[in-house]
Amino acid sequence: MEGVRVVRNIERGLPLVALDSDLIKQMAINIILNAGAAMEGGGILTVSARMSGEDNVEIIFEDNGVGMDAEVARQIFEPFFTTRQRGTGLGLSITKQIIERHSGEIRVESEPGKGTVVTVTLPVNHEEF
Ligand SMILES: Nc1ncnc2c1ncn2[C@@H]1O[C@H](COP(=O)(O)OP(=O)(O)OP(=O)(O)O)[C@@H](O)[C@H]1O
Ligand SMILES: [Mg+2]
Repeated sequence: MEGVRVVRNIERGLPLVALDSDLIKQMAINIILNAGAAMEGGGILTVSARMSGEDNVEIIFEDNGVGMDAEVARQIFEPFFTTRQRGTGLGLSITKQIIERHSGEIRVESEPGKGTVVTVTLPVNHEEF
């Protein structure tokens, strides 16, 4: 994360969301470490949180790192898929499981050379996780 500036953009008045804080922390760390790895020469990571409609909170992680092409993007949630020398390729597959356990969704948009936007959508009201 050396040379990475973090910009926080958290909407005021967000509702409390029932979640497993250890798991959600692990989710955030996985996404943030990926962003850091994509910005080896430094960059900007913007983390935003906002309502999406009335029923969901959206957490958006945006980096201006190397990005990925469509061929890579297609496989990033597969266990053990990695393009990194020392990656295990488990980060995003675990992340996806954590989000699904919270009845949420994860979406990744990326452009090679420009950066990546990871959007996590979590329902405000759900009974179990
Ligand atoms: N923000 C990002 N920018 C560019 N590529 C990314 C980004 N996030 C994920 N990727 C790509 O998706 C692949 C899979 O990510 P994932 O987190 O599952 O594994 P990993 O980071 O390679 O290893 P680890 O298990 O240590 O997390 C990465 O190897 C990388 O190619
Ligand atoms: Mg990772």
